[in-house]
Amino acid sequence: MCFLVKDEGSIDMMNQSAEDRLNLKGKNPEIFFDYVELCDRSEAESVFKKTLSNAKPGEFETRLFINTELIDVKLSFVPFLLNSSSNKKLTFVYARDITNEKQKELELIRFFNVAENSVNPIQITDLNGKMIYVNKSFINSSGYTKEELIGKNPRVFGSGKSSSKFWDRMWDTISSGKVWVGEVENKRKDNSAFFTQLLVSPILDKDGKVSGYFGIHRDLSEKRTLERQLIHTQKMESIGTLAAGIAHEVGNPLASISALVQVAQRSTDDPFVNEKLSLVKSQITRISKIIRDLVDFSRPSNYELHLTNINESIKEAVEITKVGTKAKDISFIVELSSKIPMLPLIADQIQQVFVNILLNAVDAITEKSSLTKEEKIIVTATSDDEFVKISFSDSGKGIKEENLQKIFEPFFTTKKEGRGTGLGLWVSYGIVKSFQGDLQVKSKLNKGTTFIIKLPMNPSL
Ligand SMILES: Nc1ncnc2c1ncn2[C@@H]1O[C@H](COP(=O)(O)OP(=O)(O)OP(=O)(O)O)[C@@H](O)[C@H]1O
Ligand SMILES: [Mg+2]
Repeated sequence: MCFLVKDEGSIDMMNQSAEDRLNLKGKNPEIFFDYVELCDRSEAESVFKKTLSNAKPGEFETRLFINTELIDVKLSFVPFLLNSSSNKKLTFVYARDITNEKQKELELIRFFNVAENSVNPIQITDLNGKMIYVNKSFINSSGYTKEELIGKNPRVFGSGKSSSKFWDRMWDTISSGKVWVGEVENKRKDNSAFFTQLLVSPILDKDGKVSGYFGIHRDLSEKRTLERQLIHTQKMESIGTLAAGIAHEVGNPLASISALVQVAQRSTDDPFVNEKLSLVKSQITRISKIIRDLVDFSRPSNYELHLTNINESIKEAVEITKVGTKAKDISFIVELSSKIPMLPLIADQIQQVFVNILLNAVDAITEKSSLTKEEKIIVTATSDDEFVKISFSDSGKGIKEENLQKIFEPFFTTKKEGRGTGLGLWVSYGIVKSFQGDLQVKSKLNKGTTFIIKLPMNPSL
């Protein structure tokens, strides 16, 4: 729509399009600014006046009333003198309908907000594979700042663990205009790993030409952790089955050997033979203990569960541990919540777990190179709506990071030969799991270790 507007604001002339759209055919000239949306009116007028006084063109974006509707327009004002003699000042006003542009802008803002606030890390790269956009989640997940990422190749976030063939295949797929999906391991700025499913898609322009690429990550960390836990649980289970078999097969012959040794001992007076037989007996006792532990782990829990007072079990376990000579310089601090309800357990077994963990704690303290006067073991028991939580913290030598998973495996021990069989924690783990509980460990080398047992308040039977 084109208008010629007089300096006081009235329309002097207009083109056909303006006449049609504003429905002004055969009507008296009107004030142009009456068509401008109310809230913008005075500002539009002041831009208009400024162009007149400066004799320079000006622009203003607003909305015009057209047939009771408001239409987005861009106004351009171009002032000129019609002829110098008449001194008649007119302004050429050009109103361009920008409804479509506004709509597109709105759409863009909407998509931008979706991308920016998505929980999935998103990146957009140009044709050269340089990042031109990253959303908030990408920044948070990668640990880099926006400035550190823009202009870089997304490789900065990669772990380098996938082969170059893997990435070649991705490039082949997306440069042929197709979408690629794969699982990748990324590396945060602090070097920690971040597992995601990555979707990369080409961005096509309106002619169908590739103009860039976008990638969306889906966090898989939790899935990976669960998978790892599942594998660990399955491994423990299969070891349990194996152990039950071995215990059974070895246990019986061992009992016969033990009986035979006793018979042989009784029927000889030869001190040499007798001494050797005693040695055989003590070795058999050791093997029997290992077999008993194996049986403990794999014992099907068809024993009857009884409501058990956890606090009493803990107190007794602490008393049993304190009796050992190694424990004499260690202070035991026991803090038990009185609100813990009775739980359906097998009292002997859960106590065995507590004693196992406490004896390990005593060992970990006495194995330190130098002992202070403040060596202690802290035992606490608390409960919430779901779990009873029992924790055992010691000031012992701690566990090396690489051993943290291994300590629950059978026969893993760092103790001198003959001192530990490496079955204690394995058996404890089996017992706690049989009560549908969980046994976890946290440790700092040379600082101490904490074992946490969680037992469900309402185990499903
Ligand atoms: N509180 C602790 N502090 C430091 N290391 C520990 C602690 N508890 C367990 N460990 C480590 O875990 C290993 C395995 O423990 P586990 O109780 O299974 O076997 P063990 O104590 O060596 O032998 P046993 O079968 O006689 O208990 C230990 O050898 C030790 O290295
Ligand atoms: Mg032990």
